[in-house]
Amino acid sequence: MKRIPVILDGDPGHDDAIAWVLANASPMLDIKAVTSCCGNQTMEKTTYNALRICTLIGLNVPVAKGRVKPFLKPPMVAPNVHGQSGLDGPKLPEPAFDVVPEDAVTLMARIIEESDEPITLVPTGPLTNIAALFMAHPELKKKISHIYLMGGGIHHGNWAPAAEFNIQVDPEAAAYVFAAGVPITMAGLDVTEKAQIYPEEFEIIRGLGSKVATTVAEWFDFFFQYHKSLNGYKGAAVHDAVAIVAMTNPEIFEVKDMYVEVETDSEYCNGATIGDVHGVLGKKPNVHVLWNLDRDAFAKILIDAVRTYGEVSE
Ligand code: RIB
Ligand code: CA
Repeated sequence: MKRIPVILDGDPGHDDAIAWVLANASPMLDIKAVTSCCGNQTMEKTTYNALRICTLIGLNVPVAKGRVKPFLKPPMVAPNVHGQSGLDGPKLPEPAFDVVPEDAVTLMARIIEESDEPITLVPTGPLTNIAALFMAHPELKKKISHIYLMGGGIHHGNWAPAAEFNIQVDPEAAAYVFAAGVPITMAGLDVTEKAQIYPEEFEIIRGLGSKVATTVAEWFDFFFQYHKSLNGYKGAAVHDAVAIVAMTNPEIFEVKDMYVEVETDSEYCNGATIGDVHGVLGKKPNVHVLWNLDRDAFAKILIDAVRTYGEVSE
C-alpha cells in the first residue's frame, strides 16, 4: 500500500494527542514531522507535550517549535479544557529527544521541498504555522496534496457562538489558508461534536492494558470532565482525531463540498467559518466539509488503533 506522507501540526491538547496516537498506528500514514502551535496552551507547553507524546508512542520524527503567537491576536489558551499543562491527567514520560534547531515553518518547507511526492498537512490547532508556511513559501503550495484540518463549524461555534476555537484563536491565519487554493477537508464541529467516545469505551481502551492504552484512557478521563459539563454530551468529543480518520477511513463520513470563507472583521462573528451550503454565491467550492459520520465505526477504529500498541492479558 502506498503510504501518505503527512506532517502533523497541533496544540496538544488531549484530542491532538489521541489523533497522533491514531496517526502513528495507521499503516496508511508516513509521518514526516510534528510541529507545535500556540492554541490550547502556550507554544512552549504544546511543544513539551508534543515531545512527550512522541516519546510515549515511539514516534521518532523531527519535532519543531511553531510560532509563538497568532498573527494579530494575543494567545487565548484553554486551561479549562486541557489543564494548565495543556495535557493534564496521566503522568507522561519525559521527552526522549529535543526539538530540531529549525522552526516549524523552516522544517515543513524543507520536508516538502525534499519530498519526491506531495505532502499532506494535518493541522489540529490554530492555522498560524500553516498560513506562515504559505506566506513564506507560496511556491510550495503545489507540492501539498491536501490539508485535513480540525477547525471551524458551519452551523455554530464552541468558543464563541459563531466561532470554533482553532479558527477564533487566529482568524487571519485561517482566512489565508482557506483562500490559499490548496485542497481542504474540514473536520468542523458539525461532525466532530458527533465523534464522541463514551465512558464505557474508555474502559475498553483501559482494558487493553498497554502503557499507551492506559494513558489514552486517562486522557479521556480528564477530557470528559469538560465535556460532561456541556449539555447533551454522553461522551468526550475527540475533535482532532476526526481529521486523521477522514484520511484513513473516508467511507464512514458524509461530505458536502462548499465555498467557505473565514470572517475576520466582525464584532459578533469573528472567526466564523461561513459556509455557502446552498451555493447562493455561485462560487466554486473550496472545502470538503465533513457533515456526518458513523460514530460506532469511528469508535471501533479508535479502539483498534490503540490495540496496535499491544494488549496485556490480565
Ligand atoms: O474546538 C476544538 C479544537 O480546539 C481542538 O483542536 C482542540 O484541541 C482545541 O484545539
Ligand atoms: Ca487541537
